[in-house]
Amino acid sequence: MKNPVIETERLILRPLTVEDAQTAFDSWTSDPEVAKYMRYYAHKSVDTTKEWLKSVVANENSDTSFDWGFVLCESGELVGSGGLYYDDEDGMFEIGYNFAKKVWGRGLATEAARAMIDFAFTTLHQTQLRGRHNIENKASGNVMKKCGFVYERDCLDYMLEDHAERTVSMYRLSKPGTPSNFILNNGIEIPPIGFGSYRSTLNDGIAPILQALELGYRYIDTASFYKNEEDIGAALEQSGIQRSEIFLATKMWPTEMGYEETMEAFAGSCRKLRTDYIDLYLIHWPKLNPSDLQWRQKIRDTWRAMEELYEAGKCRAIGVCNFQPHHLQVILDDCKVVPMVDQLELHAGYIQQYTLDFCRAHGIVPQAWSPLGRMYFSEEPYLQKMAAQYGRPVSQLLLRFLNQSGIQIIPKSSHVDRMKENLDIFGFTINDEDMSFLSCLPQVGFSKEFPDWATRG
Ligand SMILES: NC(=O)c1ccc[n+]([C@@H]2O[C@H](COP(=O)([O-])OP(=O)(O)OC[C@H]3O[C@@H](n4cnc5c(N)ncnc54)[C@H](OP(=O)(O)O)[C@@H]3O)[C@@H](O)[C@H]2O)c1
Repeated sequence: MKNPVIETERLILRPLTVEDAQTAFDSWTSDPEVAKYMRYYAHKSVDTTKEWLKSVVANENSDTSFDWGFVLCESGELVGSGGLYYDDEDGMFEIGYNFAKKVWGRGLATEAARAMIDFAFTTLHQTQLRGRHNIENKASGNVMKKCGFVYERDCLDYMLEDHAERTVSMYRLSKPGTPSNFILNNGIEIPPIGFGSYRSTLNDGIAPILQALELGYRYIDTASFYKNEEDIGAALEQSGIQRSEIFLATKMWPTEMGYEETMEAFAGSCRKLRTDYIDLYLIHWPKLNPSDLQWRQKIRDTWRAMEELYEAGKCRAIGVCNFQPHHLQVILDDCKVVPMVDQLELHAGYIQQYTLDFCRAHGIVPQAWSPLGRMYFSEEPYLQKMAAQYGRPVSQLLLRFLNQSGIQIIPKSSHVDRMKENLDIFGFTINDEDMSFLSCLPQVGFSKEFPDWATRG
C-alpha cells in the first residue's frame, strides 16, 4: 500500500499527483510568504517539479527522500501539501507540511500533522518521528509543540533553491509509551532516564543499585563525592550485565580540579568503579567557594585534562554540572571539545530558563538533578488534580514534564516501587496548557545551592 487516503475532521490527505504541482504553482506562487516554504517553489519551475513528482508517483520503491507525499484538500480544494520523509542518517521519518496562507490560523496544520503522526505510528509502525521548523516561523514551532514534539536542538539547514543557510529547530516525538534517547553533540545516545545514586547505598549497600539494574535502568549517575563508586563497581560486576550496556557517569569534586588532579581523580574513579573507561566524566561544581579567585584558570586546566581523556578514548563524553552561562563561557572561549552535558538542578518550581537556553544554543544536553524537586509539590492540590487527570501520581507528572521539555533526568530512589514508578513516564503526554502551567510555577523546592554562593571545601 502506498499513499493511502487519510480523512481528518476537515481535511482529506490523498496521494500526490502530477497535476497537483500545476495547481500549487498556479495558486500559491503568488503567495510569497507560503512560497518561501514550498517544496514546489524550491524546484523553481513546474517542469522540474513534474519530473520529480513523476518519479515519486511512478516508483513505489523510489529512493527519493519524499517517501509518503500527501496533498491536503479541504472541500475538494487543494490547500496544502505534506509528507513523511525518511532520513537515512537519523534512521527515522520526518514530517513536513506547507499550507496556503489564506488558510493559516485555523488549526489545519495541527490537524494534518496529527493525521500524519498517527499514520506513521500505526501504519508505518514507527516509534520515533522528527520534525523541524525554521526558527523564524514561530507558528510552525507551536504546531510541533501542540502535537507533543519535544525540542532537541537548533542546527543549520540549507534552502533547496539557493543553498542559503538558515537555522532550524529540531524536534522529536516518541510514540506514547516509547522512551526516546537523547543524542549528545558527538552522536552518542543516552537513555532519557538515569538512576541518581546519591545516598542510595547508605542503608542497604549495593542492593538498591542491583534492583535499579534489574528494573532496566542502564544509566548510573555517581560522583567521587558520593563515596559509593566502590559499591557501584561491585554492583555492576555482580549484575553480570555487560559493561558496554551500561552508561556510567561520574564527577570530580572541586578539590580535585586542575590538570594533574583531574588525571588522578579520574584514575581513582575508574579503579573504584572497576572499569577502564567512563561514559560521561563531569566537573561537579564550577568553583570551590565564593572567594576562589582562581576558578577560571582551574576550569581551563581541568578541561584540558578532560579533553585529553576524551581524545584518548578513556571517556566517551565529557561535561559539567551546575555551570551557568558565565562558567560555560570560560570553556567555550578556548575549548577543543564543547561540553556534551550540563547537569543542573532543574524541576517544576526551579527551571533555569536562561541557562537552559544557553545550553541549547551551544548543543549541550541539559540534565536534571533533583528532578522531583524534593517532592515539595506532592501535596499541592492543583498538581494532584492535574496528575489525576492523566491517571498518574504527581511524581510522574513532574518527571514527564522535564522529559517533554527536552531535559534528561536522573531521579534517585531507594524503594523498588518508586524506582519503577520513575521509569514509567512515557505512557501519557502532558498537554500544551499543562506544560505552560508547569513551566512557570513560582520558585519551590530550590536547594539554594547556587554555584557562585556555596562553599565546597
Ligand atoms: N550534580 C550535582 O550537583 C547533583 C546534586 C544533587 C544530586 N545529583 C544527582 O541527582 C540525583 C537525583 O537528585 P536527588 O537525589 O537530589 O533528588 P530526586 O531524585 O529529585 O529525589 C530524591 C528523593 O525523592 C524521593 N523519591 C524518589 N522517587 C519518588 C517517588 N516516585 N515518589 C515520591 N518520592 C520519591 C526519594 O526517596 P527514597 O529514596 O526514599 O525513595 C528521595 O528522597 C542524585 O541522586 C545524584 O545522582 C547531582
